[in-house]
Amino acid sequence: MRPSLILMGVGATADVSGTAGSRTGSHHDRPNSRSRAALTSTSGVASSEPSCYADHGSADRRRIITGWQKLWQDPEIAKQWRERPPLPEVVAMADLLEGEGRRRALDIGCGVGRHTLYLASRGFEVTATDNAPAAVHACRRNLEAAGLQAQVLEAEMTEIPFPDAYFDGVVAAQVIHHTDVATLAGIIILIHQKLAAGGLFVWAMPSPRNRDFSKGREVEPGTWVDENRREGPLPHHYCTEQEIRSLLASYDIESLEEKLNEYSQAATYHWRVIARKSAAGTGDD
Ligand SMILES: C[S@@+](CC[C@H](N)C(=O)[O-])C[C@H]1O[C@@H](n2cnc3c(N)ncnc32)[C@H](O)[C@@H]1O
Repeated sequence: MRPSLILMGVGATADVSGTAGSRTGSHHDRPNSRSRAALTSTSGVASSEPSCYADHGSADRRRIITGWQKLWQDPEIAKQWRERPPLPEVVAMADLLEGEGRRRALDIGCGVGRHTLYLASRGFEVTATDNAPAAVHACRRNLEAAGLQAQVLEAEMTEIPFPDAYFDGVVAAQVIHHTDVATLAGIIILIHQKLAAGGLFVWAMPSPRNRDFSKGREVEPGTWVDENRREGPLPHHYCTEQEIRSLLASYDIESLEEKLNEYSQAATYHWRVIARKSAAGTGDD
């Protein structure tokens, strides 16, 4: 199956000419007015609302963002996530890209920036996005404190406001499953569009063996919304292996493993994927 969903915001393009916000970890690092306008005009939650968000209505949609806001404003949680080492798959991606002389990376849903900082520390030209303003601020602060540089933008995961084939590597660690399967499929197509030929995509997400699977209410097969989660009623889609392979039909899967989360005593199983956009390019995305 090839997913065919076209997302709002897919065509949004930021000015990346160098005149946009300077690539620092400081408060100077904001998209210029054109890219900000692109972000704003394409963040059209109403028109691209996944069905499970629509279920909740816009008030709950705001609560979803606020949930992360609260989490990231808690210094203990922010510190815990900041101190987590990068996923081994992100390290592997960095090694591969470095060996291939590729330098441009995107971290979608960067949180407080563990992967953004890691990639920046290895000399990658990094862009990070997150829809929680508190995450964006914390990521910028952490970059500044570490003396590192990256461009950090407030954006929905359905938006990558850069030209096609722009990035050599894309990381989506525990982020893009926070939606329904149609939106997830669209995001994977979008990432494919924004990757250069031969570029790498690292994807991490909980599997159906995760202890949180089936908590709450199933809004579609494999997608659960649990009102009691600390991050709020955020949808979680749990892919089967077959679904992952199907969603990644236009990529070459270099590795796909189900692993126990390195940072938890509990059985928090996650899929870890490294996929490559065909070097030849498919021309059909
Ligand atoms: C579990 S945290 C992972 C953070 C980071 N990727 C890491 O591995 O350290 C999930 C992140 O996804 C962000 N997020 C959730 N839904 C999002 C959306 N619709 N668009 C952009 N970011 C989103 C949250 O704000 C949060 O920072």
